[in-house]
Order: sequence, then C-alpha cells, then structure tokens
Amino acid sequence: MVYESQHPLVKHKLTLLRDKRTKAKKFRELIRELAMLLCYEATADLGVTEIQVETPMETAVGYDLAEKVGLVPVLRAGLGMVDGIWEMMPGAEVWHIGLYRDEKTLKPVSYYNRLPTSPTVEVCLVLDPMLATGGSAVATVDILKRWGAKRVKFVGILAAPTGIQRLQEAHPDVPIHIAKIDQRLNDVGFILPGLGDAGDRQFGTG
Ligand code: PRP
Repeated sequence: MVYESQHPLVKHKLTLLRDKRTKAKKFRELIRELAMLLCYEATADLGVTEIQVETPMETAVGYDLAEKVGLVPVLRAGLGMVDGIWEMMPGAEVWHIGLYRDEKTLKPVSYYNRLPTSPTVEVCLVLDPMLATGGSAVATVDILKRWGAKRVKFVGILAAPTGIQRLQEAHPDVPIHIAKIDQRLNDVGFILPGLGDAGDRQFGTG
C-alpha cells in the first residue's frame, strides 16, 4: 500500500522544502516537522494495551503502546528525520543503516550496519526522505528482514513512481508513507521536480 499524505500542513511544508531559496537550517527544520507529521500517519495502526491510570479524581482507562518501535534512518539523509519522531516516541530504539548510491551504477553500497544478532523491536520504520530508483529502500528492507524484522514500514518525503514500484515488487508487505509521489527520475537518478539532494541540503555539503 502507498499512502500519500493529504494533510495541508504536509503540502505546505513540502512546498517550502522544495524551494531552492530554503537554506540548510530551515531545510532541517522542515525535514524534522514533515517526518513527525508522516510518522503520525504511519503509526496510526500500532497496537495498544488497555491499562488503568489514576487521575487526581478517579481511575480512568488508559493505553500503553503494545509494540516496540525501531527507527531506522538510512544515512545520511534519513538522520534528519529521527529527532522529531524520537521526541514523540522516546521509547523507540534507533538503528542506523549506512548506504550510499554509487553515482555511476545507482546501486546502493552498504557501509554501516551494527544491528544486534536478533531483533529487539516489533515494528521498524525505515526513514529516508528520498525513494528514487528504490535500490536503497529495497536493500534496507532486505537487511531488516534478514535480521528477523516482522513488520517494516517505509516513511519518506518524496518518491518517484519507479522507486515505489521497485519497493512494492520486492517487498509487497511494506507500506509506503510518503508526502508526495513526484513525476519521474532524470537520467542521473534524481527525482523531478523534486527538492535536489536531501543529504547535501541538510548538511550544507552541496
Ligand atoms: C539518497 C537518498 C536515498 C537514496 C535514494 O542517498 O537519501 O538513500 O539516495 O536513491 P535510490 O532510491 O535510487 O536508492 P545518497 O546516496 O545521496 O546518500 P547520502 O544520503 O549519504 O547523501
């Protein structure tokens, strides 16, 4: 399933994010805010356990999260999506996956992965602003499934139709939560109309 956010705040913030005049500080702020809004939508089906809570007045019915969540940012660009979500879900674990896309072949190259031997979380949220050819997302989900992850969701900001198709074909059980499905990829694998290079624009390395 692909969920393209229809939220007015998401649409507005994405417009600011795309704007080439948006500087790194504002860009990081927007990535953080969009990640929180998209995560709110992506976690709507998390399981809860009923508990009791004592208010100053009497006992009320309350809820506890029943599933342990793992945030999996794909380095580098996914890093900016972690903090805001983590503030909302301080009990989440954060597991980093390092992948970069070879500029010539566009294939993902893995350079960092320190997952423990068996899974410690029930739901993994893969965080990466860009789903372009889909190679990085497929490789990340491959790694998580080999690790033993049972439920994986992809949370991104922009996706190209090619990337969505590739991720859905490889991992049909992984829902894709995205701010916007863009039009196409250019000949060097950049999303159009896009927002440029999400890693470079966050880290000021463009
Ligand atoms: C970008 C982006 C994704 C990947 C998407 O990372 O953040 O991880 O490319 O492309 P794909 O869907 O075609 O695999 P990049 O390789 O630029 O690395 P960086 O985040 O470290 O800059």
